[in-house]
Amino acid sequence: MKRIVILASGNGSNFEAIVKTARKEKWPVEIVSLITDNPHAYAIKRAKRLRIPCKLLNYKEFDSKDSYNKELFKILKEFSPDLIVLAGYMRILPPYIVRAFRWRIVNIHPALLPAFRGLHAIERAYKAGCKVTGVTVHFVDEGVDTGPIIAQRCIEIREGESLEHLERRIHRVEHKLYPTVIKKLLFGDE
Ligand code: GAR
Repeated sequence: MKRIVILASGNGSNFEAIVKTARKEKWPVEIVSLITDNPHAYAIKRAKRLRIPCKLLNYKEFDSKDSYNKELFKILKEFSPDLIVLAGYMRILPPYIVRAFRWRIVNIHPALLPAFRGLHAIERAYKAGCKVTGVTVHFVDEGVDTGPIIAQRCIEIREGESLEHLERRIHRVEHKLYPTVIKKLLFGDE
């Protein structure tokens, strides 16, 4: 049994897609926990519904970023995951966590990296007038959205398409791509 831990700060739709795909395809995997920094994250409700344990590390209850990250590190080590999956986790992991789990942390980003790193990537690509954007899954390194790219999908931005419509299409692609990549990383092509 492989062990994965998923970190999410918000909606959690990628978290749910991973859980559902793993169950449907009967991966030999234990989704050990969802970890969230945000007590208002909708991902918490999804975790309850999906019966996945949820660890809330309320960022605002820590007196510093440092103490928050130290606690996060402690918990991650206790969970001893084969893979740490960032799914809309909106904080930067400190270098010592990245180093401790090198090649075992992945992230999904809603743009074709290295374009549009950082926040609001879908909106920035849309407003820049791009004809093509996409989705990237990459290993996490010490930078922000800079780690080695594992997989990408292109998505054309249609003439006259609304931002909301594009967002929905991007999320649909994410929900297929992320589980596919995670499965391959955990189990290869078997
Ligand atoms: C996803 O679109 C993900 O690519 C993005 O946040 C969203 C989370 O959605 N991540 C980033 O922008 C990271 N830089 P979800 O909470 O519904 O999975």
